[in-house]
Amino acid sequence: MSSIIRSAITGVGAYLPERKVSNADLAKIVDTSDDWIVERTGIQSRRYAAEGQGTSDLAVEAARGALAAAGRTAADVDLIVVATTTPDLTFPATAALVQAKIGAPVCAAFDIQAVCTGFVYALSVADGFVARGHARCALVIGADCMSRLMDWTDRSTCVLFGDGAGAVVMEPAAGDGSTADRGMLGFALRSDGTKQAMLTADGGVSSTGQVGKLRMQGHQVFRHAVVNIAEAVEAAAANAGVTIQEVDWFVPHQANQRILNGVAHRLGLDESRVVSTIAEHANTSAASIPLALNAAVADGRVKKGDLLLLEAMGGGLTWGACVVRF
Ligand code: UT7
Repeated sequence: MSSIIRSAITGVGAYLPERKVSNADLAKIVDTSDDWIVERTGIQSRRYAAEGQGTSDLAVEAARGALAAAGRTAADVDLIVVATTTPDLTFPATAALVQAKIGAPVCAAFDIQAVCTGFVYALSVADGFVARGHARCALVIGADCMSRLMDWTDRSTCVLFGDGAGAVVMEPAAGDGSTADRGMLGFALRSDGTKQAMLTADGGVSSTGQVGKLRMQGHQVFRHAVVNIAEAVEAAAANAGVTIQEVDWFVPHQANQRILNGVAHRLGLDESRVVSTIAEHANTSAASIPLALNAAVADGRVKKGDLLLLEAMGGGLTWGACVVRF
């Protein structure tokens, strides 16, 4: 087969803020219980960013970890893509703040807004830059401070989310065009704006002039997730030329343990192949996939050469999946 350039993940990093909040802590401020949250979601605790700590601060820590793991420095970076729904500022992009804070040179830097699906979108976009020769060392970051969007009187949402950041470095890798190549092999991205009311913020720059609070019709989102994620996963696998059975590790967006199990069951994936960090991270939106990937790399489950299936679903509604050989 002919030689082609793929975009390979060469380093992973992550960061969680210090402050850990248990279900029992939340039961002191809303009418909920540890039992309900664990049984319905699998979440036991989450982290919240400190006052004065912005999404860019979380992203910087994750980026430094990913660069170190890849054996690169900020001076090597020529593309920064940050997936976030909770930017420090309305503008400039959080990616520009990260660029300044890590001391990366002048390069392309921008944010992607696809809510919880943001990291899958960001990887797919960065793949275009790297595989076509427009970037040689891309930082792709998912970072969110979801605690800043919570309505602390709404028990159906405020117990579900947490703050954090994860990052990967993507670099060109020569391949022969087969599915044995390292790097991004295929993806499928989806959005259906007619369903925006199911998961939205009730404010924004050009509407209310306020950030707003997260509003979710949880049950409808749950049903949509289990049915539609499976379709996107199958499309991404077909695009990559692999079968679901070949997947070594399923690294999903961490929204609800019951969604993870439901999607894995629908796809015929054994639950032992599912990376789950929801118990300790909760839903960190765009950060959840790279946070989970980092955990599985750190504990030795995910190894070089493994076939990874990533998927997510979030506000938009957006959803999508990608297949990457690590
Ligand atoms: O990442 C973005 C994508 N987001 C998601 O994927 C989230 C998808 N949705 C979900 O994960 C689930 O729908 C939830 C965890 C949000 C809710 O679970 P559910 O099994 O769908 O429960 P429900 O919304 O049908 O509510 C069941 C009951 C209700 O009480 P009644 O009406 O049956 O008396 C709720 O008021 O649970 C009640 N409830 C709670 N009770 C204790 C809702 N939130 C809580 C709570 N503590 N925190």
